[in-house]
Amino acid sequence: MNVEFRDTLFNQAKSWVLEAGANIRNKINDPYDIATKSNANDLVTTMDKETESFFITNIKASYPEHYILSEEGFGDHLTTLNGTVWIIDPIDGTMNFVHQKKNFAISVGIYHDGVGEIGIIYDVMADVLFYAKRNEGAYKNDVKLAPLNPNLKFEEVIFGLNHFWLCENRLVDEQRMQDFVRTIRGSRTYGSAALELAYVAEGVMDGYLSMSLAPWDVAAGIVIADEVGGITSDIDGNPVSMLDKSSVLTCNSTIQKRIINDYLQKGKK
Ligand code: IPD
Ligand code: CA
Ligand code: CA
Repeated sequence: MNVEFRDTLFNQAKSWVLEAGANIRNKINDPYDIATKSNANDLVTTMDKETESFFITNIKASYPEHYILSEEGFGDHLTTLNGTVWIIDPIDGTMNFVHQKKNFAISVGIYHDGVGEIGIIYDVMADVLFYAKRNEGAYKNDVKLAPLNPNLKFEEVIFGLNHFWLCENRLVDEQRMQDFVRTIRGSRTYGSAALELAYVAEGVMDGYLSMSLAPWDVAAGIVIADEVGGITSDIDGNPVSMLDKSSVLTCNSTIQKRIINDYLQKGKK
């Protein structure tokens, strides 16, 4: 992607993200409808839909040749990543939005021919913006983020995880994952994959692991983490698909190898 065009696209995307975030903040105490999707804990609100529609309307008006992958179904149904694709989660952390009125994010990744060019993650209530452009570094509120520490001791890392190590899951033996959690220093669960990837990029967590996420959960976070030397793969070490659900592991390459070899592969079901 041409760098000048990418700058224009980034500025436009950033201004829409900030506008959408301000709209959510303004309406945070207004009533809204809640519905469930794949299961009783998979929530969607009228605010998720309103925010997604805002992006779709603007993108289609300004960039009719671009494609959109988005969570709530107003985007395109894509089978390839050819061309320029916006990958949008209008509210990542809907459960936090509903129960806490904070700790949720707008996540926008822009990919060109399958390559992540732009990542934007906006912590709406904290008004904190993480962003990156490929090969230009990652930023938190316009302050450049430092590269990830390559020399972390495995026993001292903090990892973002959700409950798959407590409850049965399809992919990895829970006992093995409990060994992992006991070996590292600590685990955290924030309820927004996008924010958790941003925290890895910021260095306040050392890694993030999920057994199943959708492209819109991670598209922006992968671009941001990549700019500070974070590697993202599935639990087999393969690249994460932007067209399908996938397990997701993001951390530095040394830790990635150890987790995959010692825990994820040995515990594979
Ligand atoms: C969810 C959050 C959560 C993760 C779930 C996602 P949503 O996204 O990122 O942290 O554990 O798998 O579905 O539904 O709030 O956009
Ligand atoms: Ca999400
Ligand atoms: Ca969402």
